[in-house]
Amino acid sequence: MKQLVVYPQREPLAGTVSVPGDKSISHRAIMLAGLADGQSTIRGWLPAGDTLATLASMRALGVEVKVDQRASHSWDLEVQGHGLSGLVKPEGDLDCQNAGTCMRLLSGIVAGQRFPVVLDGSAQLRKRPMSRITNPLRQMGAEISDDDGRAPLRFRPSQLVGIEYEMPVASAQVKSAILLASLYAQGRTAIYEPGPTRDHTERMLRAMGAEIEDDGPLKGFHGPMNQLTPLNIDIPGDFSSAAFLIVAATAVPHSNVTISGVGNNDTRTGLLDILRMMGAQLDLSNHTSIGGEPTVDLQAKFEELESVQVAGDLVVRAIDEFPIWAVAATQAAGISLLGEASELRVKEVDRIALVAKELQKMGADIAENPDGLSVVGPIQLQGAEVDSHGDHRLGMALAVAGLAASGPTVVRNAGCIDDSFPDFVETMRSLGAEMEWR
Ligand code: S3P
Repeated sequence: MKQLVVYPQREPLAGTVSVPGDKSISHRAIMLAGLADGQSTIRGWLPAGDTLATLASMRALGVEVKVDQRASHSWDLEVQGHGLSGLVKPEGDLDCQNAGTCMRLLSGIVAGQRFPVVLDGSAQLRKRPMSRITNPLRQMGAEISDDDGRAPLRFRPSQLVGIEYEMPVASAQVKSAILLASLYAQGRTAIYEPGPTRDHTERMLRAMGAEIEDDGPLKGFHGPMNQLTPLNIDIPGDFSSAAFLIVAATAVPHSNVTISGVGNNDTRTGLLDILRMMGAQLDLSNHTSIGGEPTVDLQAKFEELESVQVAGDLVVRAIDEFPIWAVAATQAAGISLLGEASELRVKEVDRIALVAKELQKMGADIAENPDGLSVVGPIQLQGAEVDSHGDHRLGMALAVAGLAASGPTVVRNAGCIDDSFPDFVETMRSLGAEMEWR
């Protein structure tokens, strides 16, 4: 088990860095390129634990992928797609490892194939709820057996039809799985989402020639799709990785950090709004577009933060950022409250329970509520032995907390950081942070 040792940060964090390619977009790019008619080029693709599971799965489905390792954590891919009906029966089960996005989005693709497919994953992924996708896919005609609503998921060859579906939870993975299945379905599929979830699938499908309807909470497609045009894209930096650097800069006195070329898609950047409500100094410049996604250079500086209350759409727009938000809240004056966030209990781990439990070990005044957290600050955190519990975002949040602590912090079980941000430690060190693998 890899451990990360983090030392109290005495010097400001400073410098300009970039972060690896967006994980959500990297998953979608390799999947959709594999369904296109012809060769796609994807630059700046993220080779992390989660996305590599998707790459291996697409290869097992017969998609040829040539990899140019531009840098160890940024790959250029040439993907030879053979069309929507060009996938082939894989030799064995597809292993999605820890990646919920891999399993849920691939489910949408394999549901309408002419051959059987089994999707499986790690013990952690086998615990996560899958009925949120098997329910709508079954309504579309997919024949799936599962283990009491959990993986492994066994898909039999099926003919799909369009449905109208009101999503019970705001989830981009569910929306995307249904949209991907709708490419294979006869007739119109209409999906109503209860909150503004990330829209990378819709953007990418449109760039490939699919007419995706978008009427606020309604997304729709009239299937089946005959042909998808190949992609030729760059992947923007992952906002959810940048989030750790942004909060680190706000927490360490006199810090001044710029992250260049990072995604600024409004469905993802709820944390910026939350931090601004807390008084953070954030400056966005060089607005441009990469791969059909808005991007910016983002400058974050140290600031004494105020407490905040977070609920509703902001939770959806910052859904992956609450482990690191909780660290910011420990440094903010007053009582910060997070509510309407029970989805966090079914992420890689129960992020409400475990964020509270691990930050308490560092002296944080944080308590769990049924659907969120309350945090009292500002608190001088203390170095402690803490555990990621195999959750990459919890691991990185605890490392950032360690920078603001009064003694060394050991993050046990920290190898999972590679699931989304393989060069997290190098990037933090290039900003002056003191941390090392042990
Ligand atoms: C993701 C959607 C979100 C997010 C996950 C990635 C995606 O999950 O938490 O890290 O790429 O679609 P939900 O759709 O379950 O909210």
